[in-house]
Amino acid sequence: MVLNGPNLNLLGTREPALYGSATLADIEVQVRERAAALGASVTFAQSNHEGELVDLVQGIGGNAEGAIVNLGAYTHTSLALRDAFLAAPIPFVEVHLSNLFKREAERHHSVTADLAVGMVTGFGAAGYLLALEALVGVLRARR
Ligand code: DQA
Repeated sequence: MVLNGPNLNLLGTREPALYGSATLADIEVQVRERAAALGASVTFAQSNHEGELVDLVQGIGGNAEGAIVNLGAYTHTSLALRDAFLAAPIPFVEVHLSNLFKREAERHHSVTADLAVGMVTGFGAAGYLLALEALVGVLRARR
């Protein structure tokens, strides 16, 4: 599953100098193509609402073997989402389009990064493809 949090539905028009010109729909097409080439299938979800994201993470084990996750600003603030991932039985890769460590100090901390297999940050939309390749590799190595 590819899970995106608040304001990522605005990709393409939201601060393009920072986040690029690809829309979330463009990213979805690219990820689906790469997943098909890797023999994997993906589902996409996006929400602007913290509780809805918690519900999605709670249900993730029944719906996916692994996840690619960009929680947007909740990355830096949401203990509720950290708790949801602590209880989630699947590996996930954290993605950020921008390089968090080049930005304001408040964005340097992620509440979920230590729970992730790893993080891809700063490669724009390509980060989702890098995360997919990494996640598929991790899942196949575990089989
Ligand atoms: C983001 C980085 C966050 O700090 C920000 O709030 C976002 C996007 C990224 O993909 O670079 O919404 O997660």
